Amino acid sequence: MNHHLIILLALSIFTLVNGRELPENLLRLPSEKPFSDDDSVGTRWAILIAGSNGYSNYRHQADVCHAYQILKSGGLKEENIVVFMYDDIAYNPENPRQGVIINSPDGDDVYHGVPKDYTGDDVNVDNFFAVLLGDKTKVKGGSGKVVDSGPNDRIFIYYTDHGGPGVLGMPTNPYMYANDLNEVLKQKHASGTYKSLVFYLEACESGSIFEGLLPQGLNIYATTASGPDENSWGTYCPGDYPSPPPEYDTCLGDLYSVAWMEDCDVHNLRTETIKQQYKLVKERTSSGNYYYGSHVMQYGDLPLSTDNLYMYMGTNPANENFTFNEENSIFRSPKPVNQRDADLLHFWHKYQKAPEGSDAKTEAQKKFMEAMSHRMHIDSSIQLIGKVLFGLEKGPEVLNTVRSAGKPLVDDWTCLKTFVRTFETHCGSLSQYGMKHMRSIANLCNSGVTNEQMAAASSQACTIFPSNPWSSLSSGFTA
Ligand SMILES: *[C@@H]1O[C@H](CO)[C@@H](O)[C@H](O)[C@H]1NC(C)=O
Repeated sequence: MNHHLIILLALSIFTLVNGRELPENLLRLPSEKPFSDDDSVGTRWAILIAGSNGYSNYRHQADVCHAYQILKSGGLKEENIVVFMYDDIAYNPENPRQGVIINSPDGDDVYHGVPKDYTGDDVNVDNFFAVLLGDKTKVKGGSGKVVDSGPNDRIFIYYTDHGGPGVLGMPTNPYMYANDLNEVLKQKHASGTYKSLVFYLEACESGSIFEGLLPQGLNIYATTASGPDENSWGTYCPGDYPSPPPEYDTCLGDLYSVAWMEDCDVHNLRTETIKQQYKLVKERTSSGNYYYGSHVMQYGDLPLSTDNLYMYMGTNPANENFTFNEENSIFRSPKPVNQRDADLLHFWHKYQKAPEGSDAKTEAQKKFMEAMSHRMHIDSSIQLIGKVLFGLEKGPEVLNTVRSAGKPLVDDWTCLKTFVRTFETHCGSLSQYGMKHMRSIANLCNSGVTNEQMAAASSQACTIFPSNPWSSLSSGFTA
């Protein structure tokens, strides 16, 4: 007897014994359409997160809305896409087109139809972890939607925000630490509730989130906008080419994010692999020169990159005839802006545009000066702490050390979290700008500084708690 028939017979008996129907694709014979790995089994799930708020961070929520439209037109169901966005952009008084969000200068509205699963203060680390783990009981607020995935499902996660070495921003306290994220990914894997997971991450120093931390064998493939020790870049910023429409004082997107999404917008994702997109995005994000741009990185189970994008994102039927090839993928490369300077640029443009002698001018100047003086305070406090602990010469050397590739930022994450808290208690919030100093703080831990020494050095460096609004602990990342 033909062995296919034996299998079929065995399955029929199994069905009878169990008294219930088997999914019909289990009974498909090999002579039929090959048992394809993509659409026959499993559900596609996605989590999209914009980790910031405030109009000067317009671009992160614009990125997330755009990603939602790609997945939606790719055929994913709304019930399988969980969106985290603060939702203070579309109807922000500063938004020149009320109720509309765009992600490129001549782009269409990407805000319409985006589900408001987790908005405002519900955009937080605990909810993100609970949603990913599919744990409805741990979710607080929001729509309650979670990734209720099974063993054959694929998961796509896209996160865009400010970051720093070992940390990702959230619009709420606390920020997300890399070790906690990687622990949750391991937990998700251990629960056996996905087949493979793809993570696209845009943030400054985003490589540090996975470098030396994401092991192989979890069936997770991650790409990041930048290496562990470089900025990522905003794009379509005022004053650049191509620039946003003149009424916008803010960047509309981020370089890496726009690169993958504008690629998805036009191609048949059934025929394009993750690897092909990675190469293209890497090329575009490097921006062709070394003053701007960053190195897109990949981590985890690299063989997954031969999967088609379709397995995670679906594909827009309108693109069925646009097969990916290098030639039809040449994009304009706008001059990007360092993510960390995008908010300064916003305040600066508002200042420049406001009429001479107006209240708006005074207000914009005040905002700009506050942001600048906060930055100087944070920079000099960190420098001073290094010098107090290690001396004038050795201090800067310890702070600026970058560990070799493959090593995580820090060995003792509890130490890092404690030192951040100690710093913020004495010197005020690091805020989104101060995330850049996480490596210096990690290096203090790696050099064996004790809690007592850190507390003493912080109080010596910051004798008075600063009154700058950016320093308020409510905008810090201490829990
Ligand atoms: C793709 O090409 C085929 C053959 O020319 C055509 O029938 C089909 O309508 C095209 N699809 C789209 C979405 O344009």
